[in-house]
Amino acid sequence: MCLRHLGFALLLWFRGGLQARSAEKRCDAPPLTNGYFVLEQNTDAHGTHLTYACERGYKPAVEGWWATSTCQSGTWSPKPQCINQTACTPPAIPNAKYTENPDGWYEEGDKIRITCEESYELKERHATALCRGGTWISVPVCERSADACGAPPKVPHAVIVDHGFKELFAEDTELQYECEDGYTAEGAGNDKTIVCIKGAWTEGPTCSRVRDGSSGRGTGGGDTTSAGSGTPPAGGGSSSSSGSNKGDTERHFTSVNICGDPPKIPKAVVARTLRRSVKYSCQQYYKRLGPESVRCYSDGTWSELPSCEASYCVVNTLEYPDLKPAGEISLEDGNTVRLECVDRAEWWFNNYSDGECDNGIIHLSRCCSKAQLAFNTCDGFLTKRNHRLPLD
Ligand SMILES: *[C@@H]1O[C@H](CO)[C@@H](O)[C@H](O)[C@H]1NC(C)=O
Ligand SMILES: *[C@@H]1O[C@H](CO)[C@@H](O)[C@H](O)[C@H]1NC(C)=O
Repeated sequence: MCLRHLGFALLLWFRGGLQARSAEKRCDAPPLTNGYFVLEQNTDAHGTHLTYACERGYKPAVEGWWATSTCQSGTWSPKPQCINQTACTPPAIPNAKYTENPDGWYEEGDKIRITCEESYELKERHATALCRGGTWISVPVCERSADACGAPPKVPHAVIVDHGFKELFAEDTELQYECEDGYTAEGAGNDKTIVCIKGAWTEGPTCSRVRDGSSGRGTGGGDTTSAGSGTPPAGGGSSSSSGSNKGDTERHFTSVNICGDPPKIPKAVVARTLRRSVKYSCQQYYKRLGPESVRCYSDGTWSELPSCEASYCVVNTLEYPDLKPAGEISLEDGNTVRLECVDRAEWWFNNYSDGECDNGIIHLSRCCSKAQLAFNTCDGFLTKRNHRLPLD
């Protein structure tokens, strides 16, 4: 197209101009198939830009109908590309992460698997987004984890050391308080650290004024104000219990070393050992029930342990008369699978059934053509054989 040629001519002319400008590494005219450069090249302090648009049926590999690339030390970034209109550009999902395709775009039918940022978790354990007809469908949501904690409690006459502002803190985060000058955190169980457990902070310390004449330390330290006398810290009203009773003070969380080796849990592995907690993860195809973190009480016992239960679907293709026999297929919760259907016509395209494993239950679509599946016009589900197969 003449527009495209004009764009190239302009670009080449422009490069000539650039060479004189500085010793900066210049960019060669980028190749661009199915698109054309728009007549706007300009240079400013940030570099040289070019603008391009794509021909009918194609779109730029970035959001929008036209796109800009910048020359950065010899390469155009992002790389000018025109992609099929049914392809997808990387989705923006708040508080989520995924491995970006190095091409910078995804083909129709591609899936991406999302994980959430720290302190967020997948809503309804739904983890995959699907590129269909140029947009992402069934996009997962990362919501605030119930186990994350908000702002730490304010403790009078104390500051939190070594951390910057954060809106959310992941489970197991430990923060350390320091009392102001002239104040001290005293008492046996008066730990200066707080820990985020299941969405709430453990109780903070109480900083009380150092008594006159005793500020020099070394006067024996045998204050009789120890266990049980602590006033609850202001603002730390997260514990709905009846305040400090003796039992609580005697049995507090302590370093995991006191409890020894972390207990063995079937199908679980110790994912992380921290000073004051041990985190468990379940093996693939298992999901955790109960707390992720286990803590050690001062009496040497562990807090409540999690367990791992099977969390996957098994499709026995022999049970479905419409599926081509392919034995048993296992699939993790939240994942999808496309299964081939038996031929009902010798001369037409193959049909497929899309399956999704949702909390241990498999949903298999009726057998449909790829196009029907792509455009969500395949209603109904596969039915099982109505007689039982002999078990082997
Ligand atoms: C875009 O891709 C679809 C298949 O996903 C194909 O049928 C179509 O021909 C492609 N369009 C162009 C303009 O290449
Ligand atoms: C695919 O399914 C359609 C009906 O949904 C049917 O007409 C067609 O024959 C099937 N194709 C094959 C190969 O089974």
